[in-house]
Amino acid sequence: MSRIAYVNGQYVPLSEAGVHIEDRGYQFADGIYEVCLFIDGRYWDLEGHLSRMERSLKELQIEMPMPKSALKTVMGELVSRNRLRNALIYIQTTRGVASRNHPFPDGVVAPALVMTARRFDLDQSDAKAAKGIAVVTQPDIRWGRVDIKTIGLLPNTLAKQAAKEAKADEAWLIRDGHVTEGASSNAWIVDARGVLITHPKTNEILGGITRQTVMACAQELQIKIEERPFTSEEALKAPEAFLSSATGLIMPIVQIDGKTVGNGEPGPVSLRLREAYKARARAI
Ligand code: PDD
Repeated sequence: MSRIAYVNGQYVPLSEAGVHIEDRGYQFADGIYEVCLFIDGRYWDLEGHLSRMERSLKELQIEMPMPKSALKTVMGELVSRNRLRNALIYIQTTRGVASRNHPFPDGVVAPALVMTARRFDLDQSDAKAAKGIAVVTQPDIRWGRVDIKTIGLLPNTLAKQAAKEAKADEAWLIRDGHVTEGASSNAWIVDARGVLITHPKTNEILGGITRQTVMACAQELQIKIEERPFTSEEALKAPEAFLSSATGLIMPIVQIDGKTVGNGEPGPVSLRLREAYKARARAI
C-alpha cells in the first residue's frame, strides 16, 4: 500500500505529493513544523505540540492554517488512511505561495499545510535506549531565535551529518562553551546528587514538549531539576546524560566525543524517566 500524504486540503499518494515551487517554505524556509507520535490509538503530548505550533506561527506572523480541532481531524484521517497503529506525524505550515520577494506578500495568502505519517517502531526505540547512544559536540551556528520551530534546519542537518560520520546518533551543540541542546533534541545530564540539569528555556533552545513532560515526570518522582547551562566536560564527569525529543523520547547517552559517560551504560535515572514518560503519555 502506498503512503498517503495530506497536501493543502487533499489526501494524495506520497509519490504524487508536491507543493508549488514558489512556496515560501521552499524558497525562504518561511515556515514551521511539528513532530509528534501516535501510539496505540493515542497522540503523545498532542496539546503541547499544537500549542507550540500556534506559538511558532504567531512569532512569524503566519495564520494558523485551520483550527486545532480541524488539525486533529486531519491527523486522525491521515493515520487511518495509512493504516498505522504507531506513527510519527509530521506537520508543516508555511506562509504559502507568492512570487519571490523577501518581505511578506501583500494581501491575503493562504498558509500552506502538509502532513505526513510514517510507521514508528517503539520496540526498536526501546532496544536503542537499552544500549544508549553516542553524541558528538558541534559548534552551535544557528540563528538567534531557535525557540521557534522553523523549517530552517541547515545548521542542524550539518551537525547531524557530522554526528553520522562519527558514527554517533546526535550532535550536541556548543555555544559560548556550553551545551545548548541537540540538533533535534534537548540535552540533559544527571549529576552525582541525582539532580537533572538542562539548559534554561531561552531563545538559545527549542522549548521541547518532551522536555516539559520530563519535568512533570521528574516532579512526580521527586527528582530535582536545575535549569542552567552545562559544559560537555561537566557532562563527561556526570554519572548520566540523556536527550529528550518526541521521536527519541528519553534516550540515554553513553558516549560524548568518543569518551564514556558514567559507567558506559544507560543510567538508572534516565531509564526511570523514560518509563515514567511512556506511562504518562499513555495515560493522558
Ligand atoms: N525535533 N530541540 C530541537 C532543535 C529539536 O529539533 C527538537 C525536536 C527538540 C525536542 O522537542 P520535542 O520534545 O518537542 O520533540 C529540541 C523533532 C523531533 C524533529 O526535528 O524531528
